[in-house]
Amino acid sequence: MNRVLRAAAAALLGAATLPGAAAEPAAPAYPVGQGSFQANCTVCHGPVGAGIAGLAPPLLSNPGRYATSAEGRRQLALTVLYGMIGDITVDDKHYNFQMPEFTRLDDATLAATLNFLVFDLDHAPADVKPLEPAEIAAERARPQDGSAVHEHRKSVAPATP
Ligand code: HEC
Repeated sequence: MNRVLRAAAAALLGAATLPGAAAEPAAPAYPVGQGSFQANCTVCHGPVGAGIAGLAPPLLSNPGRYATSAEGRRQLALTVLYGMIGDITVDDKHYNFQMPEFTRLDDATLAATLNFLVFDLDHAPADVKPLEPAEIAAERARPQDGSAVHEHRKSVAPATP
């Protein structure tokens, strides 16, 4: 079974119990972020963030890349705060469903969730600065909708409109 299918199957079964599904290290650098990811995100993005075909994209490269630029960091905060709607392409596959908003989660939890993606799932180099709660707070102060977040994504992922 390939990775995406295994992730999808594990997500459908409601647990990462399939052999080989628990590919990530047992001790994440961001355990609070991992807990939040499992509670809020795996239902769509799969237990190890590999995405689910036709539903939600993999989170195994873009978050780590976004974290290296100011606009990319804003994009990460905007996506979790306000969700995203509109067609996107990741690894040559199209996704056009709705990412929900998570304004109910506090700034520290959202920063930890993003750091789990950036460092534990995407293995960003150690010289990348972890997302700070203040960066989430700055975007929380400027409410927008999922279409605007989709529009802003074009500035950080120009090759995948
Ligand atoms: C209901 C399903 C669903 C849930 C739950 C969900 N997402 Fe998403 N997510 C999506 C979809 C669908 C997209 C693509 C949106 C689009 O097509 O515009 C997406 C996109 C993203 C992206 C942008 C990826 C890129 O390439 O720009 C990130 C980052 C992300 N999600 C993180 C998360 C995190 C973190 C959580 C949990 C806090 C989460 N998602 C929960 C469905 C979901």
